[in-house]
Amino acid sequence: MTEAIPYFDLPAQLRSVRKEIDAAIARTIDNCSFCLGPDVIRFENDFAQYCGAGHCVGFNSGTSALHVALLLLGVGHGDEVITTPFTFVATSWAISYVGARPVYVDIDDATFNLDPKLVGHAITPRTKAILPVHLYGQPFDVDPFLDICRKNRLPLVEDACQAHGARYKGKMAGTFGQISCFSFYPGKNLGACGEGGALVTNDAGFDKRARSLREHGSSVRYYHDEVGFNYRMEGFQGAVLGVKLKHLEHWAQKRRTIAHTYHDLLADTPLQLPREAANAEGAWHLYVVRHPRRDELKKHLEANGVGCALHYPLPLHLQKCYANLGYKTGDFPVAEKAARECLSLPIYPDLTDEQLQRVAEVVKEFFK
Ligand SMILES: Cc1ncc(COP(=O)(O)O)c(C=O)c1O
Repeated sequence: MTEAIPYFDLPAQLRSVRKEIDAAIARTIDNCSFCLGPDVIRFENDFAQYCGAGHCVGFNSGTSALHVALLLLGVGHGDEVITTPFTFVATSWAISYVGARPVYVDIDDATFNLDPKLVGHAITPRTKAILPVHLYGQPFDVDPFLDICRKNRLPLVEDACQAHGARYKGKMAGTFGQISCFSFYPGKNLGACGEGGALVTNDAGFDKRARSLREHGSSVRYYHDEVGFNYRMEGFQGAVLGVKLKHLEHWAQKRRTIAHTYHDLLADTPLQLPREAANAEGAWHLYVVRHPRRDELKKHLEANGVGCALHYPLPLHLQKCYANLGYKTGDFPVAEKAARECLSLPIYPDLTDEQLQRVAEVVKEFFK
């Protein structure tokens, strides 16, 4: 019996850096720097430098970072934010948290990313920001979005929660908008040993206010300038992320090699394969293939010991939590089709060549 191939192998990744992480965590305990502290400051500086951005503010999750991003931009009750219906729900949570309304626009069939050609029609006098996602780690087509934002005097917020180290025209995803947000959820390409997130910006004013908002609206202890939050990054997470950041480029290279090997191995199957735009370098957070018989293929893979997952089975405009927005089936046909057809195959730096070959073999058996 061939050994099962997990969809994601976090234990394997941790084994490869375990000694470094143990030492870093031990230092945090010795310093008792559990909430923010020197490990977080060091990581913020290192991550800002890695991205090529002016500032990075550590948060306790990507969701909190997105929430604060919209507060910084003054988005509030009655406002609208244009975004994608095909993403993890947290992209939309940020809009709801500030009392604004998510306005969805359909995605591009080839890239799964928000389609810039459709965004113009959705802009109204109430639109206060545009919030696209670099989904699965593939950069959205940034230039047309910057164009739309410039013409309509709207800020661009990048949800880069899945796109650590992705590049668009040679520049890092997360450095194009006024603000961008990252998640360090354990399964991300750069994952904490717990929850974590970051807000990245070149604006010193946003940096200062984000630091205050994440810490009870305060920059001087026990003096509170505005209603804030406890959104601080834990010292442990700063320590772990600092260790892992040093390996990120190497891991990214491995993900790229795996993705390109999948392309070759699956080229003659009827699957629609993920595509890297000519001007972009994906972070390959996920390798998502498409087929109308997706559910059967998923069962076949699982029955043969190959882990796989759905990102995402139901677009946000059809979620129960957003029934109040009044959308219906058929409003975003491209996103709805993607939700029916997408299937994420295993992709992580520790996936061996044998495992990769086996995944491709099992996929091919399905189509025989
Ligand atoms: C696209 C996207 N946006 C936002 C988030 C929220 O990040 P977090 O889970 O760190 O709150 C995630 C991650 O889960 C995500 O994938």
